[in-house]
Amino acid sequence: MLKDKRIILGITGSIAAYKSAYLIRLLVKKGAEVQVVITPAGKEFITPLTLSTLSRHPVISEFFSNRDGSWHSHVDLGLWADAMLIAPATAATIGKMANGIADNMLVTTYLSCKAPVFIAPAMDLDMFAHPTTQQNIDRLRSFGHHIIEPTEGELASALEGKGRMEEPEKIVTLLEHFFAASHTLQKKKILITAGPTYEKIDPVRFIGNYSSGKMGFALAETCARRGADVTLIAGPVSLSAKHPKIKRIDVESAEEMYQAAIKTFPEADAALLCAAVADYRPETSSADKIKRDDKDRMTLHLTANKDIAASLGALKREGQILAGFALETTDEIRHAQEKRKKKNLDFIVLNSLREPGAGFRTDTNKISILDKQGEITAYPLKSKQAVAEDIVNKLETLWI
Ligand code: C5P
Repeated sequence: MLKDKRIILGITGSIAAYKSAYLIRLLVKKGAEVQVVITPAGKEFITPLTLSTLSRHPVISEFFSNRDGSWHSHVDLGLWADAMLIAPATAATIGKMANGIADNMLVTTYLSCKAPVFIAPAMDLDMFAHPTTQQNIDRLRSFGHHIIEPTEGELASALEGKGRMEEPEKIVTLLEHFFAASHTLQKKKILITAGPTYEKIDPVRFIGNYSSGKMGFALAETCARRGADVTLIAGPVSLSAKHPKIKRIDVESAEEMYQAAIKTFPEADAALLCAAVADYRPETSSADKIKRDDKDRMTLHLTANKDIAASLGALKREGQILAGFALETTDEIRHAQEKRKKKNLDFIVLNSLREPGAGFRTDTNKISILDKQGEITAYPLKSKQAVAEDIVNKLETLWI
């Protein structure tokens, strides 16, 4: 899986830098092309000569190769890579990456890198546990980077605890799994709807809901990482889609979402309908702001929106897969199963508002998947990213 993969290996100033030599050997043996970028502090721990010999490429450390005016292009390097791995990653480099402090070649390259990023922290246990480090790591995780958790054991400080860089063999296996997984949806076109819709009342007011879009965006990232071409139709959300294989279409109302979905669906191999689409919209929307005028009551007349899921379900052709979500508060399984049938979905993902940590605006979700064969699979509470993996795994089983 690593054959011909281009990997930038970032090395920072940690005693665990001695493991980088072995890491390079393993990667090169598997057929990867490795370009080392080392911080000035990193060079205190391992020599560039060792690293360039093993990687068969000159090691990059400074912005300028010498003072003759030629420089190392961090932009070209960032675009060249299939993955960037920072191992070992010190607390300082993690902090700089999390905050965009690009004062060395490694962090500058990181900021230019569009490829997936893997970070293997290595530091003393208290530095690792410090809230600053943990917050920085959480921030990097929120960018979609992969944190390779350090292990517990004896540290260079002679203390025992969590902070040892993961062993090179494990890191290489992790990369192999990542690249193996990144091909499973190659050539598939997937349509995803996400977020709420806003139904306009007047120029300043709307009917909306609490959907954050996090689940749909996590699904889009997961599908794109597995090689799919994703069209993400997003209602008003404050999220960004990072993967280059995601084509994002921003919409506001259910009608706009419907139009975009209907247009995209014929080309799609699958659609995952995650958006919390408003069922109703105001019959008319006022061009001017509606005045209160001392009225005690006010009546809004609503009219039903089109059901996107049911419309796509009616259009679905042989081989296309359609999945939706259900958020229920009572008699959940029955309602979800009925909804699946009515909308002609291949499976439906049920999340209950009664579960703490599940549903709107949270970073976690607890789901059950109900399929056409009547099978129900319940999953434990997980991050929305991990839930997205489960849902896409289910989708993939329908193509096998
Ligand atoms: O009927 P209900 O809104 O509970 O159904 C939820 C599922 O249907 C979700 O997958 C949602 O994205 C989809 N839906 C839709 N268009 C609507 C209403 C719901 O696509 N107008």
